[in-house]
Amino acid sequence: MIVDAQGRRFRNLRLSLTAACNYACTYCVPDGKRLQAAALELTASELVRAVRLLIDSAGIEKLRITGGEPLLSPKFEEVLPQVMALGLRDVSITTNGQLLPRKARTVIDSGVRRINVSLDTLDPVRFRAIARSGDLETVLYGIDLMLEAGLKVKVNMVPMRTANVDQVLPMLDYCLDRGIELRYIELMNMGHLKQSASFVRDFFGMEDILALIGSRYEYARTDAAFDSTSVRFEVPGRGVFGIIANESEPFCASCTRLRLSSNGFLYGCLSSSHRHDMKDLLALPDDGARAALQRLLLAALGDKQTLSFAGEVTVMKFIGG
Ligand code: 5AD
Repeated sequence: MIVDAQGRRFRNLRLSLTAACNYACTYCVPDGKRLQAAALELTASELVRAVRLLIDSAGIEKLRITGGEPLLSPKFEEVLPQVMALGLRDVSITTNGQLLPRKARTVIDSGVRRINVSLDTLDPVRFRAIARSGDLETVLYGIDLMLEAGLKVKVNMVPMRTANVDQVLPMLDYCLDRGIELRYIELMNMGHLKQSASFVRDFFGMEDILALIGSRYEYARTDAAFDSTSVRFEVPGRGVFGIIANESEPFCASCTRLRLSSNGFLYGCLSSSHRHDMKDLLALPDDGARAALQRLLLAALGDKQTLSFAGEVTVMKFIGG
C-alpha cells in the first residue's frame, strides 16, 4: 500500500465512464461549448480491469461511478454488474438523474445501495437556465423510483448567488421530507471559473448557507467519516444535511480519493491537472501491469495538495467530482 508523508492513501475511486454529458451546466461548461464524448475512451472491459488492478495495487475499498454523465454511456449496463461483483465494500453512482427513469431497472437490479443525484433547483425554469438542457420532472421522478426501491439517495446542490440561493431552503425541505441527505457543494474554482469574475460573484459559502438554514431550522454539527469531504449537520427530528466546503473548510489533508477518467488517466487530485496514463499498462499481463501501476500511483499521490484546494483548469466533465 502506498502512503504519503501526511498518512494519506487511496481508498475511494471515482470511475468516469464517459466525458460526455446531456447537460451543459453553467458552472461546468463554458458558454456555447457543448460537450462531446472523448475520443479513445476505454472499453467496458478495460474499465473493469483497471478497477480490479486498482483494488489490488492501491487498496481501493469504495467505488463511485461518475462521468460526464455515466447513465449516458452504453458501457453503464456492462460495467455496473461487473464492478458489483468485485467484492468492494461500497459502490455508488453520481448522476444528473435525467436518464434515471430509463435506467432505473439496471440500477435497481444491480444491487447498488446508494445514488447521488445532482439537482440545483426545484424551479423548472431555473433548472433549464442552469443545466441548459433536461427537464426537472424527469429527475424528480427518477429520485422517487430510487426511494421506492429502497436506495439511499443523496442530492448535490451547488448554491450560486445569482442563480439559485432562494432554493437553499426549498431544496432542504424537499430532501428532509423524503429522508434524502442534501449536500450543498461550495462552488469550486475550477475549469472556466478559475480566477473568473463569475466565481467571485456567484460563490456562496458555508457561512451564508448556514445563515439561511438557521432562519428556519435548528441544526447541530454531527459526525462524518474521517475522509469525508462533507461537513454534516443534523436537524433534530428531521434528518441530516451536509456542506462540501472546499473553500471554507478544506479537506485535502484527509483526502483518500483517486480518479480514473474515461480515457484512462489517473488523477490524484481534483486541484491538479497532472494526470497519469494508465491505458498502456492495460495491455500488460497482471504482474507487469501491477509494477507499472505502482509507479503511477506514487506519482498520483504526490499530486495531492497539502491543505486546501488551489483551483485548477481541470473540470468535472472529465473526472466527475
Ligand atoms: N463547483 C461545484 N460543484 C461542481 N460540480 C461540477 N462542477 C462544479 C463546480 N465548479 C458538481 C456537480 C455534481 C458534482 C459531481 O460536482 O453539480 O453534483
